[in-house]
Amino acid sequence: MSNLKAVLAKKIPEWRMEVQDFLKNYPDVEISQITVWHLFRGLRNVRSIICNTSHVDPQKGLLIRNFPLLDLIDKAPEEVFFLLCTGDLPDQKSLLSLQDELRERSTVPDYVWQIIHQIPDETHPMAILSLCLLAMQKESVFWKRYLDGMPKEDYWEATLEDSLNIIAMLPVLAAGIYRQKLLNEDVIEPHPTLDLAGNFAYMLGNPSNDEMFANFIKRFMIVHSDHEGGYVGVHSSRLVNSALSDLYYSISSGINGLAGPIHGLANQQMVKYVLQILGKFNGIPGDDDLKKLIWNDLRNGKIIPGFGHAVLRGEDPRFLALYGIGKKAYPDEIVFRLVDKLIQFVPPILSEHGKIKNPNPNIDAISGALLYHFGIKELDFYTVMFAASHVLGICAQLIYNQAIFNPLVRPRSVTTAWLSQYLEKANS
Ligand SMILES: CC(C)(COP(=O)(O)OP(=O)(O)OC[C@H]1O[C@@H](n2cnc3c(N)ncnc32)[C@H](O)[C@@H]1OP(=O)(O)O)[C@@H](O)C(=O)NCCC(=O)NCCS
Repeated sequence: MSNLKAVLAKKIPEWRMEVQDFLKNYPDVEISQITVWHLFRGLRNVRSIICNTSHVDPQKGLLIRNFPLLDLIDKAPEEVFFLLCTGDLPDQKSLLSLQDELRERSTVPDYVWQIIHQIPDETHPMAILSLCLLAMQKESVFWKRYLDGMPKEDYWEATLEDSLNIIAMLPVLAAGIYRQKLLNEDVIEPHPTLDLAGNFAYMLGNPSNDEMFANFIKRFMIVHSDHEGGYVGVHSSRLVNSALSDLYYSISSGINGLAGPIHGLANQQMVKYVLQILGKFNGIPGDDDLKKLIWNDLRNGKIIPGFGHAVLRGEDPRFLALYGIGKKAYPDEIVFRLVDKLIQFVPPILSEHGKIKNPNPNIDAISGALLYHFGIKELDFYTVMFAASHVLGICAQLIYNQAIFNPLVRPRSVTTAWLSQYLEKANS
């Protein structure tokens, strides 16, 4: 038994008892209220999900198992995965055994490479990644064991098996899609000794031939790993998994959510925006021109990518973790200089515009600009990098959910006619 599995096996009975205790002693205690506003506004701030892996404090930002994100950014993604799953950082032996296990599980079946080869080059890389996961559904350990009558107590174990396989394969797939479909180059096989992030950088071909690249990929994976349970990418995975659809189905659906322009795709949109401005002005515009352009875009109803957040009300530490790399490594590069200028000008304009609740830059204001700097100039690929990292948090959340016997998620819906009648009665 691997150390991760052994630690989980020890903790899960306690987690189950904790849930039993809540259900037995406090089943009717109200913790959140749903108003008409919430129904039409994406259930913002409705506390309706249990997630122990991470928490987004509106002011402090992301806390992973109570560790502020900025305290974890120099760890390895495998350490953060262990932490997400168990609540503890691994010792050296547990870390090495997890890294070995992931290396052993990283072989992508041949039929998946054939699918990638045959799919049209214009297909979005996120759609290809999602399709590859669906194609591999038949590899699911959970599914096979379920058909063999696996007891409910073991669901988490089979979910862990699928998690390790998917976490190990996603960087290989992502890098393969990048090289085959976007660069038209040969796929690079995983290295036999590198760790998850080192291997990801290696298989991408280290486009900038820069020794900082692997470190950047490591940090990139950590800052994108988790953002509590209501985040679209993980939320859709959780919903699908609650029907006992295995992780291949569940994570494919999470990736589909992440592909949206106001979610994961914002990193791509931000660099596109920066490049459009550079093209329009033949370089970095003067302050007045830039302000005018931002105002024009807002007046035309455009969303400025990379700014705002549904939960955060202060600075985004994920942004700060990546911004520090850019500021140190290449402050004079033109894309970074314009991003820096946008970070200076956009928030006060958004505030004056008066709609947005948090005008601060979020992670997507900077992550794409760094990928661009490191030589990944194919913007359509950026969300795939996000997906290969976010899978750490998705898997950790799904393992927990299966461990505590999370049931099928099935809220009720109401019609607007029902709502009108209800409100009429309430007001009479
Ligand atoms: C992240 C985001 C979806 C949060 O949405 P939200 O919770 O509805 O945010 P707010 O409550 O602050 O939105 C209030 C209004 O400000 C607008 N707004 C929010 N962010 C904006 C932005 N970056 N540019 C322009 N307008 C914005 C909203 O569209 C909304 O307008 P509406 O009332 O006409 O519908 C939103 O800020 C956004 O689209 N940001 C840009 C995309 C992005 O960077 N996404 C990645 C997030 S990590």
